[in-house]
Amino acid sequence: MNKEKIVFFCNNCGNEHAKWHGQCKYCKEWNSLKEVRKSSIKIKSQIEIADYFKKESIPLRINEINSENLMRLRVNDSEWNRVLGGGLVPGSICLISGEPGIGKSTLLLQISIKFDKRILYVSGEESQQQIKVRSDRIGEELGEVFILSETEIESVFKHIKKINPEIVIIDSIQTLHSKRVEGSPGSVIQIRDCSNELIKYAKSTGSAVILIGHLTKDGNIAGPKVLEHMVDVVISFEGDNNHAYRILRAKKNRFGSTSEIGIYEMSSSGLKEVKNPNEIFLTLNNSKMSGHAIGVSMEGMRPLNLEVQALVGKAVYGTPQRSSNGFNSKRLNMLLAVLEKRAGIQLSNKDVFLNITGGIKSEDPSLDLAVVSAILSSYHDTPINEKICFASEIGLSGELRPVIKLEKRISEAEKLGYEVFVTSNFKKENIKKNRIEILEINKIGGLMAKLFK
Ligand code: TYD
Ligand code: MG
Repeated sequence: MNKEKIVFFCNNCGNEHAKWHGQCKYCKEWNSLKEVRKSSIKIKSQIEIADYFKKESIPLRINEINSENLMRLRVNDSEWNRVLGGGLVPGSICLISGEPGIGKSTLLLQISIKFDKRILYVSGEESQQQIKVRSDRIGEELGEVFILSETEIESVFKHIKKINPEIVIIDSIQTLHSKRVEGSPGSVIQIRDCSNELIKYAKSTGSAVILIGHLTKDGNIAGPKVLEHMVDVVISFEGDNNHAYRILRAKKNRFGSTSEIGIYEMSSSGLKEVKNPNEIFLTLNNSKMSGHAIGVSMEGMRPLNLEVQALVGKAVYGTPQRSSNGFNSKRLNMLLAVLEKRAGIQLSNKDVFLNITGGIKSEDPSLDLAVVSAILSSYHDTPINEKICFASEIGLSGELRPVIKLEKRISEAEKLGYEVFVTSNFKKENIKKNRIEILEINKIGGLMAKLFK
């Protein structure tokens, strides 16, 4: 009797192994190998789908290569263009990931409607009617948008050949499957094969492809990790489902910077660009409340004033609780240790809760000073003057460290009507005289003396 052959696929990188190992020998991930029957991955057809579009590549001298292809496809949405480094590049492949219900399908449908291009929007999750209802909420169509409700990649390519779109949107890559290989949609083998075909198609025809990707429970893009290496651009769409604000953030971009973010607000008629983010993330009239501090963070090239709220209270259980929303909790623990050791503030028997308002997450270390000030304000139950804002990183010995793009932060704070800007006394940049007062401090001990005289 013919014994069926078993192979093992790594869920992380998608590589094949003949035997089971605890650790993948390619990507070194532990416990990621899954058993698959060899017959189920047999490639049924030797013709690769995207071969229909294949053009032969010939070596060229670098000065003979035309860079016009890098022209950007700009859409009437400045947040989207900014995150993509100026616009979508023809022939590129872009992956957008986000939690369910965050608004990925809405964003992409809205982008297709705003583009004056021929677009094929393939949905494996919704029917054409459902998409039409959504598009009616969003607005008027500028170009030619074709909606296809399909999950089979062979059939998608058949329509691509007929329509010849400039942009193809796949919603989502986890719902697509190919007849060439078996396995259910969303499995590593299917995702790897379908994305491979789409990448080959994009590179050989110059059409741009946008893939929507689901996230797993732990926040990674479902499917093989190699998917992120294969595509040109990886963008995450994040936010808090309880808030209306959404942030589009580039995580990888072969054609631009990854430091840019785009901010949207979910409204009853789709996502609206947020042009004045600094005004919306601040709670109005908090002058009488303790535990609030304004931090000036840089998100990409934009200064963003964020409100940090802290609550310090007596620990009710044996182990004090620390919880943080929008700010790295390990960093919060570090700042609490610095406060205890360098400023003599007893926090080991206190619960500390921290929140950045508006459902925003920030990784900018220059928020450290605002976090520490909010904690101190709550600890002493003394409000901080609402005209003061903060920007500085804090080191382990309690020293205030310089931040980048100080001048930009200061002028934004000035524009928003702040009167005092607290930062480190170590400046690399030459700050020109401003109306705003710049308060320079070198240690967090000095901060207490200045703020809570
Ligand atoms: P959706 O784009 O389907 O999310 P995803 O594709 O990421 O799963 O949209 C999610 C939510 O957005 C949905 O719960 C309803 C809401 N929504 C609005 O609030 N306003 C709108 O105009 C639209 C189209 C959706
Ligand atoms: Mg969706």
